[in-house]
Amino acid sequence: MCGIVGYIGPKEAVSILVEGLEKLEYRGYDSAGVAITGNGSIEILKKEGKLRALKDELNGQTYSANVGIGHTRWATHGRPSDENAHPHTDCTGKIAVVHNGIIENYLSLREWLQSQGHVFNSQTDTEVLPHLIEEFYEGDLLEAVLKASSKLEGSFALAVVSSHEPNKLVAVRQDSPLVVGLGEGEYFLASDIPALLRHTRFTYILNDGEIAVLEPDRVRVMDRQRNKINKKVLEVKWEAEQAEKGGYDHFMLKEIHEQPKALRDTFSGRIAADNSRVILDEVKITPEQIRGLKKVFITACGTAYHAGFVGKYVIERLVRLPVEVDIASEFRYRQPIIEPGTLVIIISQSGETADTLAALREAKRQGAHVIAVTNVVGSSVSREADDVIYTWAGPEIAVASTKAYTTQLASMYLIALHLATVRGTIAPGELGGILSEMKQLDAKAQLLVDNSVEIRDFAEEICSSRSLFYIGRGLDYAVAMEGSLKLKEISYIHAEAYAAGELKHGTLALIEDAVPVVALCTQKDLYDKTASNIQEVNARGASVLALAMEGFKEVEKVSDKTIYIPETHPLLAPILTVIPLQLLAYHTAVARGCDVDKPRNLAKSVTVE
Ligand code: M6R
Repeated sequence: MCGIVGYIGPKEAVSILVEGLEKLEYRGYDSAGVAITGNGSIEILKKEGKLRALKDELNGQTYSANVGIGHTRWATHGRPSDENAHPHTDCTGKIAVVHNGIIENYLSLREWLQSQGHVFNSQTDTEVLPHLIEEFYEGDLLEAVLKASSKLEGSFALAVVSSHEPNKLVAVRQDSPLVVGLGEGEYFLASDIPALLRHTRFTYILNDGEIAVLEPDRVRVMDRQRNKINKKVLEVKWEAEQAEKGGYDHFMLKEIHEQPKALRDTFSGRIAADNSRVILDEVKITPEQIRGLKKVFITACGTAYHAGFVGKYVIERLVRLPVEVDIASEFRYRQPIIEPGTLVIIISQSGETADTLAALREAKRQGAHVIAVTNVVGSSVSREADDVIYTWAGPEIAVASTKAYTTQLASMYLIALHLATVRGTIAPGELGGILSEMKQLDAKAQLLVDNSVEIRDFAEEICSSRSLFYIGRGLDYAVAMEGSLKLKEISYIHAEAYAAGELKHGTLALIEDAVPVVALCTQKDLYDKTASNIQEVNARGASVLALAMEGFKEVEKVSDKTIYIPETHPLLAPILTVIPLQLLAYHTAVARGCDVDKPRNLAKSVTVE
């Protein structure tokens, strides 16, 4: 999605803004620009394409302005172009705005503004903003921004500068994230924390409906009626280096390699030393509420949805409660039946995904207790849920989610085991066994990330294939979905995941000579059945890579290549099985020369519907 940055302080603004935009590049974008104020005018520099294009434009020029805003655009209204790139200005060129989100009523606003004589230069929804502010400006920028915001429908985060009041930056948040960075004698604005980390770790996370006014010597946060809000300073614990590549070619590869640590961090302090229980002191849901549960919904998007699918199997198996998993964009519109005794688990790495947030709000509106599993402290999801379980994965920069997924799975195990313990559906022996295995997952994950030679060879083989199939049963099917999404999104090869038993009901017709099939076989109770499905595709000429649990030797007889997953409890296998699939997607994308960290058309955090 779009990225916003802002700066006000003693330093030269342009380089700080561009550096901030570089840190937001991972969000995905198609144009970039900055606006700086000074000497009674505003200077706008913007360019279609990668940030490189803007930097080339700026190259060799000197700028002295100390106040500015910047933007990376991910096109929604109007194609990527120089005119549609932000910042946008009013008719006089004295007001500049950058915006993230969608102004749903922009057409009617535009018509009205045109009838008042305003002239538009772009096809964007954003351009109504500077014109509205111009329309309402009577010597008080803040007041004009407030009046303009009150006319808007939709989700937005905006930053405004004006040469009328050059030492001021006004920011508004409504359903789209914004963070103020508190430096020493300087202030920053960003739509995401990595853009601030080089300068400060002290932040104000703005809530919906809040307005921040940044001036050289102070920051004020207020509501729409200009009532002062006393914000709590949130100290970000991430190190700036965590948001850098650290010697890896891509963020995605770095993040795959960070999984052992991310798992350790997510489990840390949450499993009793003697493996007798899960410690989830952070959740407020009471044992009484847990015992009264009748149903669980899990809702999320993309990779987080796939983590929810694993969660369903695990909770149903351990807690014996019915679980429905929903794609968040479906959940919110299908009038889900939420009765007393319903728990809703929301999963979101960013905690800002628009559909997921809307699903959370719908669940709360209907009275469910909501537990959020998220990676971003202070995110919207974390603030609105009744309970939060943080995945301690650290910043995930690559668009393709890897360590967020494995730590989401880790969190689902913790939740399932906690519920099962309270409801008495798990025997102490089984609980101890699973917890002890969980503590060994980091070391086993390490073995998998360190041994990728065979995966790389298979990637070379499939990199010119047109289509791939991923098959598995039960938990393996859930992981197959994630494996196929990873491949699609970064290598642009068509890939589908199928429940192995479903193949012969149609899809088997697509299997012909040399079609690559990735077969997952880690579940002992389904072993024979899966092996016979692998046999079915093998017999039709497919080139089969099997990922099997150590010891499942028979799989070798029906596949062309077998990679073994270190032995673990079958319920925990997904955390390990997905790692070779992530590596397969990564190496295939590299072999095809794709932009691994910034796949086409995609954004890291989908803050629009
Ligand atoms: O931030 P979220 O977890 O809510 O994001 C949900 C999806 O957009 C996300 O998981 C997406 O599918 C991944 N980037 C795919 O790798």
